[in-house]
Amino acid sequence: MTFEDLRPEQIPQHVAIILDGNGRWAKANGKLRSQGHKAGADNVETINDALTEIGAKYLTVYAFSTENWKRAEDEVSYLMSLMKRYLIRNKKDAIARRTRIRVIGDKTRLDPELQELIREVEADTAHLDRFNLTFAINYGGRDEIVRAVRRVALEAKEGRLDPDMIDEALFASYLDTADLPDPDLLIRTSGEERISNFLPWQIAYSELYFAQVYWPDFTVDELKKAILSYAGRERRFGGR
Ligand code: IPE
Ligand code: IPE
Ligand code: MG
Repeated sequence: MTFEDLRPEQIPQHVAIILDGNGRWAKANGKLRSQGHKAGADNVETINDALTEIGAKYLTVYAFSTENWKRAEDEVSYLMSLMKRYLIRNKKDAIARRTRIRVIGDKTRLDPELQELIREVEADTAHLDRFNLTFAINYGGRDEIVRAVRRVALEAKEGRLDPDMIDEALFASYLDTADLPDPDLLIRTSGEERISNFLPWQIAYSELYFAQVYWPDFTVDELKKAILSYAGRERRFGGR
């Protein structure tokens, strides 16, 4: 079977990606880590466009984790400035491509300028519905769950929510991903095979794919390989 033979229902609706390996890509190519991150940011655009063409509806990328603050200060500040530049540069393109942009994660810890840019780009693309690009920034799955639990507990304490009413669907509506479907396919690049705190609730039944290449080398052909692998699987949700 080749990629061209795939039927529309074999295309994952929602692809989530742990884009890993920017640093190792830079080292392997005699470049600075910052250049690796720049190449990685450019590749988000390439893969976003390819997925839109292929017929997927959602792409969610892990851009900065709650644990990434532990990195060297200059790397953290480079990543923050890169995200700002990316949002500024891509707003026009996103509108032209009818792509809605969202950011998940704890935005309150980001610098006010970045928070303002996020508010702007989310508001200016909120009416678009051809494709949905979501960035996880200062995102950690455990942190997301704790923040959701806090809000649920507060509502219960204030008498606005009966604890007996809490079920999976209600709880999920308190997560950052409330208006996103669960990912069908989760890809991690760079050969690492772990989740690193990315969407632990949402990927309960996602198919996993680990690519051996570093993120800046994850081309459209690599993406097609991942989707072909996905299409060849029999998805199961616990039934028979
Ligand atoms: C992924 O690349 C980008 C971020 C985590 C921000 P890395 O920076 O983790 O690259 P490696 O894993 O060190 O190669
Ligand atoms: C996961 O990559 C976080 C992002 C891609 C933003 P890391 O490179 O930070 O994860 P670990 O440290 O290898 O688990
Ligand atoms: Mg890494």
